[in-house]
Amino acid sequence: MTTSPRPVAPATGKLGVLTVGLGAVATTFIAGVELARRGMARPTGSLTQMGTIRLGKRTEGRAPLIKDFIPLASLEDLVFGAWDPVPDNAYESCLHCGVLDKHEHVEPIRDFLKSVTPMQAVFDQHYVKRLEGKNVKAGRTKRELAEALRKDIRDFKAKHGCDRLVMVWCASTEIFIQPGPAHQTLASFEKAMETNDITIAPSMLYAYAAIMEGVPFANGAPNLCCDVPAIEQLASDRGVAIGGKDFKTGQTMLKTVLAPMFKARMLGVAGWYSTNILGNRDGEVLDDPESFKTKEESKLGVLEYILQPQLYPELYGDIYHKVRINYYPPRGDNKEGWDNIDIFGWCGYPMQIKVDFLCRDSILAAPLVLDLALFFDLAQRARLSGIQEWLSFYFKSPQVAPGLYPEHDLFIQHTKLKNTLRWLMGESVITHLGVEYYEYGDS
Ligand SMILES: NC(=O)c1ccc[n+]([C@@H]2O[C@H](COP(=O)([O-])OP(=O)(O)OC[C@H]3O[C@@H](n4cnc5c(N)ncnc54)[C@H](O)[C@@H]3O)[C@@H](O)[C@H]2O)c1
Repeated sequence: MTTSPRPVAPATGKLGVLTVGLGAVATTFIAGVELARRGMARPTGSLTQMGTIRLGKRTEGRAPLIKDFIPLASLEDLVFGAWDPVPDNAYESCLHCGVLDKHEHVEPIRDFLKSVTPMQAVFDQHYVKRLEGKNVKAGRTKRELAEALRKDIRDFKAKHGCDRLVMVWCASTEIFIQPGPAHQTLASFEKAMETNDITIAPSMLYAYAAIMEGVPFANGAPNLCCDVPAIEQLASDRGVAIGGKDFKTGQTMLKTVLAPMFKARMLGVAGWYSTNILGNRDGEVLDDPESFKTKEESKLGVLEYILQPQLYPELYGDIYHKVRINYYPPRGDNKEGWDNIDIFGWCGYPMQIKVDFLCRDSILAAPLVLDLALFFDLAQRARLSGIQEWLSFYFKSPQVAPGLYPEHDLFIQHTKLKNTLRWLMGESVITHLGVEYYEYGDS
C-alpha cells in the first residue's frame, strides 16, 4: 500500500560533517570521501553510495540507486570539521594511524587533509585513561565547556558557509557510566553540568551542544552519551535526530548474521567465545579495564536479544558467552577477530564453527560514518526528531524508544532501513508476503 510521501526539505547547499575525534576512523572516512570525489577510490561498503532499493512488485523491475531515490547530500557538498585533544591535522593523523597507503591514498590529497585541523576538545583523562590531551578547552564548569562547543559549531557553520551540519562521535570509548539521577531530566542534567558532576562525560556535552544548535548527533562508540532520558527528551523537544551506539563493523556484525541463522533453524548454542587482537589507539584505549567494560557490555547484549533464551530455554538457556579484546601493537588497525561457536543439532549432537575475520577496523567503519552523516541529515530534513531506530543497521547497541527491545538481526535492520526510505518517499513498504504472484483459489 502506498502512502503520501513525507515532506523532505531538499539537500541544497553544503553539509558540514563534524566528527568528535580525528583518529583512525574519522580520518579514513574524510580521506575516503575526498578520494571518491576525485575518482581515486570507490566508496565500497557505503549503502548510500552503492546500494539500490527495490520499489513495487518484483515484476516491475524498479531498483534505483538509493542516492537517486531519496534526496541525500552529495559527496561534493560535504565539508569536514573535527575536535581532538591531539593537535595533529588530518594528514598527520592519517600517517600516524597508518590505515591508508601513504603513497597511493594520503600524499595525493595531502593539502586537503592538512586543511582539516582539530578544534580544541572537551576532554578529561578521567573518562579515557590511556590518552593525554594537549589541544583541550579550559572551562570552570562543564556548562561553560558545552557553551564553548556550541560556539565552535556556530563559528564552523558561518566560516564554511554550511547550510546544515551533522555530528558523529568518532572519539575514544569512555569509561563505563551507568545512568543516574543527573541524566534523568534536562533540569538535573543542566544542574549537573554546573556542579561538574562526575557522571556527566565529555561525550554528553558534545551531544547536548549539538542538540541545542539543532545539529543531529550519532554516537559511534559504546559509551553512555545521547542514550539518557534527559538528552532523549531534549532531542525530541527541539526536533533533532539522535542515535547510536557503537558502529557495528566486525565481529558483532558477523554475530548478528550468524545468530539469527541458528535461531531460524532451531539449532542450539552451547557457547560462543569471541576474542580480538588489535594494535591501534582504539585498542590501546580499550586495554584500560574501565573502557573495555563499556565495550564489553555493548558486545555482549547482542546474543541475548537475538536468541531469546526466555522463549527457547532448551536451545539458548545455558550459553557460555565470552568476549575478549587484546591490545597487540604489531597488528595496528588490522584487527583479527576469532569466534569459536559450539552449537548442537538433532538429538543434541554437538558441532563447532570457527570464524577468523582478518579485518581492517577503520576500513569497515568509514563507510558507516558516511552513511550515518547522510541519513541523519536526511532524518533532520524529514523532521524525524529524537531516536532514529531505523538506523539500527549501523549500531551494535541500537538506541530505541523506552519500553522497546532493540532489533539486532542485521537483515531485519536492513529491511527496516529500506522500508523507512520507501515510507518517506510514499512507496509501498515490502513485506515479502508475495501471495499476489500465485493463484491460491478461494477457501
Ligand atoms: N573501527 C571500528 O570498527 C569501530 C567499531 C565500533 C566502534 N568504534 C569506536 O569508534 C571510536 C573511534 O575509533 P578509532 O579507531 O578512530 O580510534 P582512535 O583512537 O584512532 O581515534 C579516536 C580519537 O578520539 C580522540 N578523542 C578522545 N577523546 C576525545 C574527546 N573527548 N573529544 C574529542 N576527541 C577525543 C582521540 O584523541 C583520538 O584521536 C572508538 O570509540 C571506537 O571504539 C570503532
